Amino acid sequence: MIQFQNIYKSFGKLEVLKGVSAGVDGGGITAILGPNGSGKTTLIKMLLGMVYPDKGEIMFNGKPIKKEWQYKNDISYLPQIARFPENLTVTELINLIKDIRGGTPNEQRLIDLFDLDSHLGKKIKHLSGGTKQKVNIVLAMMYDNPVIVLDEPSTGLDPIALVRLKDLVLEERAKGKNILITTHIMSLVEDLSDEILFLLEGKVYFRGTIPELKDFAGEDNLEKSIAHLLEHKHAENIKV
Ligand SMILES: Nc1ncnc2c1ncn2[C@@H]1O[C@H](COP(=O)(O)OP(=O)(O)OP(=O)(O)O)[C@@H](O)[C@H]1O
Ligand SMILES: [Mg+2]
Repeated sequence: MIQFQNIYKSFGKLEVLKGVSAGVDGGGITAILGPNGSGKTTLIKMLLGMVYPDKGEIMFNGKPIKKEWQYKNDISYLPQIARFPENLTVTELINLIKDIRGGTPNEQRLIDLFDLDSHLGKKIKHLSGGTKQKVNIVLAMMYDNPVIVLDEPSTGLDPIALVRLKDLVLEERAKGKNILITTHIMSLVEDLSDEILFLLEGKVYFRGTIPELKDFAGEDNLEKSIAHLLEHKHAENIKV
């Protein structure tokens, strides 16, 4: 469904992506991991057409996305940093997005899930960070799309909201959707991911399941396995 083909991207002298290839298909959750600045958000923004690759191509349903926009209707996207019009109330913002996107969203079940009812009349600028993130999640997830892209969805969420988020993502997976998620929260990776795509130094440094990653690193714990990867102990063993 989604193919990143030999993607290169530099910002000035900074080479962020240096030949990234990866495919996502057949449903399930792929966790895109890697240290801060490893290019996770850049790669995601490319899929959404918000950043252009210097070299390489991204395919969606077998077609290059270059100059296309229709495919974006099939993607639910949660940005890492969402900028909303701060003076609107939550309800006004939801209605604004509904007016722009059209379709048949179902926001009420998400409002209920994250207990947002009492916040609907408040202006965005008066919300707490975690509540703002819940609104961000509602806006991203209120449409029923076959592809879901979540860039750091857990930012600021309390433990209850985090559990609800996990359940929501698993529910969507059960419908056979293709879900891409970035996070630095290892419990989220452990509970959600079918596959890990680990970016390091501009390349796919590891791709596989959690058991494969543990095997690869010779550790029995995910956090330690990732620390192992970061220590470059397997530089000779790059697996794509
Ligand atoms: N528009 C831009 N102009 C200049 N540099 C940029 C731009 N966008 C991203 N970068 C740089 O590219 C690198 C990769 O950024 P990116 O946001 O993709 O990282 P990330 O893996 O998502 O990190 P994090 O874990 O902190 O979210 C960083 O060094 C960042 O500063
Ligand atoms: Mg990021």
